[in-house]
Amino acid sequence: MIYGSDLEKRYEMKSDTVFALKGVDVSIEEGEFVAIVGTSGSGKTTLLQLLGGLDKPSSGEVRIDGTSLRDMTDAELSSFRNKKMGFIFQAFYLQPFLSLQQNVEVPMMFGSESPEARAAAAATAIEAVGLKDRLSHKPSELSGGQQQRVAIARAVAHEPKILFADEPTGNLDKNTTADVLSLLQNLNRDRGMTLVLVTHDENVAATANRIIRLEDGEVVA
Ligand SMILES: Nc1ncnc2c1ncn2[C@@H]1O[C@H](COP(=O)(O)OP(=O)(O)O)[C@@H](O)[C@H]1O
Ligand SMILES: [Mg+2]
Repeated sequence: MIYGSDLEKRYEMKSDTVFALKGVDVSIEEGEFVAIVGTSGSGKTTLLQLLGGLDKPSSGEVRIDGTSLRDMTDAELSSFRNKKMGFIFQAFYLQPFLSLQQNVEVPMMFGSESPEARAAAAATAIEAVGLKDRLSHKPSELSGGQQQRVAIARAVAHEPKILFADEPTGNLDKNTTADVLSLLQNLNRDRGMTLVLVTHDENVAATANRIIRLEDGEVVA
């Protein structure tokens, strides 16, 4: 369960203060597929970053499975994230000089698995996104949709309970968008992974089981 209470985020600028989130309450059950939708600047990315422990609220609290992120050190937070969460973004952030296999292994380097277990988990994750025959290829040899599938494999190879996706189809055309969305839906449905998807696109949001709508830093529905 992901629980955010009275989340505020202020950015103090030279001349004024931007209120990115103005007291947002959300709760997301284990295994849900929720879309956070709103226009550009409404606070979606900020909310995802707070819920995923990538950033800290100015006030308010996030709890994941009963554990508050508030008093964790950066090291504790990053190990907590590594165990429980996976992230994908609009940009794929693949390392150009590494093979697909190596790219997917990177986040697991910080875990406790043996190199053999890591390699096996990466290969399994790449197979699950349909790129089994491309393990030794470099990202530049793939299409955008395929690269995002590798990024998804990297995000889920360690089998996190929660997957956060920020505009995962923002750089993709219509067909590859549909592919990536159905892959994400399968991860939610077949593996019970909680899926929190941020998008400005109403059609993408409509694939979720529930929509949280943001307007100007507030939840409106
Ligand atoms: N690092 C930052 N510094 C200052 N303002 C920011 C920063 N990040 C986001 N904002 C502002 O906070 C608001 C919400 O941004 P964001 O969460 O990125 O919205 P969205 O993802 O919905 O487009 C916007 O007004 C944005 O300009
Ligand atoms: Mg955003």
